[in-house]
Amino acid sequence: MFGRRLILVTGANRGIGFAIIQAFASNAATASSAFLLGCRDVEKGKEAVEHLRELGLALNVSLMTIDVTSDASIRHAVDNVEKQYGHLDVLINNAGYGAIPSAPDFSDWREIYAKVLDTNVTSVALTTQLFLPLLRKSSDGGRVINVSSGRGSIALSASGQLPPTVSIPYCISKTALNMLVIEMSRDPANKNVEFQLVGPGHCKTAFNGYRGTREPIEGANVVVELVKAAKGTYKTVGFWETKGSSLDLIEIPW
Ligand SMILES: NC(=O)c1ccc[n+]([C@@H]2O[C@H](COP(=O)([O-])OP(=O)(O)OC[C@H]3O[C@@H](n4cnc5c(N)ncnc54)[C@H](OP(=O)(O)O)[C@@H]3O)[C@@H](O)[C@H]2O)c1
Repeated sequence: MFGRRLILVTGANRGIGFAIIQAFASNAATASSAFLLGCRDVEKGKEAVEHLRELGLALNVSLMTIDVTSDASIRHAVDNVEKQYGHLDVLINNAGYGAIPSAPDFSDWREIYAKVLDTNVTSVALTTQLFLPLLRKSSDGGRVINVSSGRGSIALSASGQLPPTVSIPYCISKTALNMLVIEMSRDPANKNVEFQLVGPGHCKTAFNGYRGTREPIEGANVVVELVKAAKGTYKTVGFWETKGSSLDLIEIPW
């Protein structure tokens, strides 16, 4: 029995983050949860909530302003969740950034590497660390689901199963994210918290100019399946994906 959970999704005003809330709200097992729609721009967040209502989804959703690259913004979000709810059941680290260095003189490399790694790694580390005290107060110990990418798989790249990337910093950031989450899960202080990583697949979002091959909601399904499963159903920490419209979880090799 899943019950009513408090679920925060970062970067949920569009793309896969939005689709994660849409998928939770569309699933009978998880629809009665309370959702915190993370956004860094309140107006964009309000539009996203409106869009969810237009989709006919009756859900309990509130905006949560959080820019994951700002310590002050993360702390403010943690304070808000603590004051309003006193705990958090599920943190979904979805907000992410990718860019392709392209200056002929390489003058944009340092800036792009720094921003990609800051958003996709350091910000996830700090957001998770600052929410952990509230996650530990969850009745089932709390869960942290992290949106990584198949592009973070060393095995898929080294074996040539993935073609060469257009953005090395992005791939590095997702590989680093995977290691971050593995090590956070090994911290004895976090032994009751479930940590997972997912690859949503190549989804049609602004991130890739809508050139992906999957609908964002298909990419979101892997998150819903992990969160609605009883704790211990899937090993922690795992790296998971679904294929096509199937809801079966498949492991992505590290
Ligand atoms: N699309 C794919 O094919 C694909 C494949 C594998 C993995 N992923 C991963 O999936 C996640 C979502 O990507 P997406 O495709 O949905 O991209 P997207 O459409 O560009 O959405 C990214 C979301 O993250 C938010 N965000 C970016 N920086 C942020 C920050 N500093 N603080 C808070 N929010 C921030 C954006 O907010 P704004 O609207 O304010 O910019 C937006 O809501 C990312 O982690 C990405 O790496 C995507």
